[in-house]
Amino acid sequence: MFDLLIKGGTLPDGTVGDIGIRGDRIVAVGRIEGEAREVIDATGDLVSPPFVDPHFHMDATLSYGLPRVNASGTLLEGIALWGELRDIATVDEMVDRAVTYCDWAASMGLLAIRTHVDTTPDHLRGVEAMLEVKRRVASYIDLQLVAFPQDGLYRTKTGRENVIRALDMGVDVVGGIPHFERTMEEGAESLRDLGRIASERGLMWDVHCDETDDPMSRHVETMAREVTRHGLGGRAAGSHLTSMHSMDNYYVSKLMPLIAESGMTAIPNPLINITLQGRHDTYPKRRGLTRVKEMQAQGITVGWGQDCVMDPWYSLGTADMLDVAFMGLHVAQMTHPEEMARCFRMVTEDNARIMNLEAYGLKVGDKASLVVLDAGNPTEALRLRAERLAVVSNGKVIARRHRNDTRLTIAGRPGTVRRRHPDR
Ligand code: FE2
Repeated sequence: MFDLLIKGGTLPDGTVGDIGIRGDRIVAVGRIEGEAREVIDATGDLVSPPFVDPHFHMDATLSYGLPRVNASGTLLEGIALWGELRDIATVDEMVDRAVTYCDWAASMGLLAIRTHVDTTPDHLRGVEAMLEVKRRVASYIDLQLVAFPQDGLYRTKTGRENVIRALDMGVDVVGGIPHFERTMEEGAESLRDLGRIASERGLMWDVHCDETDDPMSRHVETMAREVTRHGLGGRAAGSHLTSMHSMDNYYVSKLMPLIAESGMTAIPNPLINITLQGRHDTYPKRRGLTRVKEMQAQGITVGWGQDCVMDPWYSLGTADMLDVAFMGLHVAQMTHPEEMARCFRMVTEDNARIMNLEAYGLKVGDKASLVVLDAGNPTEALRLRAERLAVVSNGKVIARRHRNDTRLTIAGRPGTVRRRHPDR
């Protein structure tokens, strides 16, 4: 007797089968005979492990327009605007906005999120709020918090001290923002310092690294060096890496092997990179996305992050990782069939690897978390940004939605339009 049976779905690798769930675990996969308390018929639909977002800012989410909008659209105005908001937002307001966002995420099958939490203000209200959110959503969303010194580790008097305080309060991951320190040397020193802190505390490390258009910025190589020195490997991630878009090709041919050697992972955030970078250019205007395909060719794990939804940096967003992958696919020109399928894996499997999630997947013994999509395969899911027909988290069905069929009448010819490909 199963608690839940998902019947006849197509898995991302194209195999068709059933998934049997007991408690919070997958206990059978394949052709399953047997009774179940609840059955979801997924015949013809894509059944995938849940979406994962390895880069987000939940302390700022859903605050668009508070206290005013970002008129220039630049990263720097966004940081200044957030600097005003974080000192007037209460813990309750931040918790309410973040929990609302988590509802959006759950409805979209996004069940694991790594969020950076600004540790700059001495009151640490954002940290307090996000720890509370983590407790509230724990039964259905895996939330990792990063101690993120938004205004720099050394650029404010208590920057370093507050990162340590946040880690002592229970924040999971060490952050960093070397390109925002006063000088290149202080940025490099911040990486040596933070890498040591992560290593000594046995924590993961995720750095906003070289989120600039500066072709001369060199923090990625320093980070890779520190990851290698401390043996952090895949427990370290470089977020954004946008300077690599503008770097000299010869230098990148030296840098890539250093990143690969370190084992660190990479998290570009296509919606935000394409929006914020190149703002100081005229034409040609740089697009700012890091070198995704080239890193993957070197064996580096690269995922797609979302970064922002309706906050000082970005006015749109719906917690849909298919939107994120769709933008990434276009900007990185990942249009070959294998590359499109890879884009889907980037917002599922690859992001799970970046976050070091355990028991993630659709094998026997994995956590019973999955999403049923109104699509025949991963590429079609991307093309349609397909409806999430059902979302299961830890063995419980937490969201259901109807198919996106439209009733249409043209010249007296009634019918139903489905945008799915009829042959798949
Ligand atoms: Fe970010």
